[in-house]
Amino acid sequence: MNIVVLGPGAIGALWASHLKSSGHNVSLWGRSSTEQTVIQLDDSPEQSFPNQNAQALHEADLLLVTVKVWQVKSAFTPLLSSISKDCIIVFMHNGMGAVDELKAELSPFPVLLATTTHGALKTSSSKVSHTGKGATQIGPYNAQGARCEFITEVLNHSLPSVQWNSDIEKALWQKLAINCAINPLTAIEQCNNGQLAESRYQASLAAVIQEVTSVIQAEEITLSYDELHKTVAVVIEATKTNYSSMRQDIFYQRKSEIDFITGYLLKTAKRHHINTPENDKLYQAIKQIESSWINHD
Ligand code: PAF
Repeated sequence: MNIVVLGPGAIGALWASHLKSSGHNVSLWGRSSTEQTVIQLDDSPEQSFPNQNAQALHEADLLLVTVKVWQVKSAFTPLLSSISKDCIIVFMHNGMGAVDELKAELSPFPVLLATTTHGALKTSSSKVSHTGKGATQIGPYNAQGARCEFITEVLNHSLPSVQWNSDIEKALWQKLAINCAINPLTAIEQCNNGQLAESRYQASLAAVIQEVTSVIQAEEITLSYDELHKTVAVVIEATKTNYSSMRQDIFYQRKSEIDFITGYLLKTAKRHHINTPENDKLYQAIKQIESSWINHD
């Protein structure tokens, strides 16, 4: 397939490398204006990809969008008029709400949403490390997307495991619950994920998960507090030596995904008139840290 990866950060580069290795014609669309971009995945040989190639974008059968959630609109909108209406668009990022902002623009295209638990880290502009083997779920965002289940096999062949989930909304909410629980707290405490297993964090984690459960259930998604609490505990243990993406963003003073993680939860809670004091507190704390850098400039 002709594939373009928009946003060759850690996860985008991981996918680009695996897709190319399994024989696809892969191009990147990154911020750098160089014509070729080199990626080296762990100890594999370097791979070279065309970058920002208009012809490749025009001929793409699949556009994999792996930019950060808050970059989706600004990175994707300028490309819209160059993409063929048959091109399958897959969005893969932490957080929710960004694709809804583009609902009208996306209506002609088959659109899929994906969530992954693979861990990847960019250790230099070309080197990527696959830090944790995970799994990916993919499912339809619109009716045209629902006809593209075959893409699961294409992706699964390159970087397993990939599973089709016709209720992708539920998988995304489950991931949002994990991110609401782990990301702000590890960013505020500047700790690794494993430290959240300490007893002093249990009350906050329980309150966050309780509030998320109320919102999820108001959205008529069947996930219980016990299920979510267990899932969060499993992820904390499985990623105990990792720093969460928000911890890293705050550490390096980069804009975080808070508006599309806790912020999305708060917006949805408000629509349902649900109180979310613990998530409010964490949201405000992250916003305050972010605004302190802006004030410094
Ligand atoms: O955002 C992250 O860092 C990850 O989604 C997760 C699962 C919290 C692990 O660090």
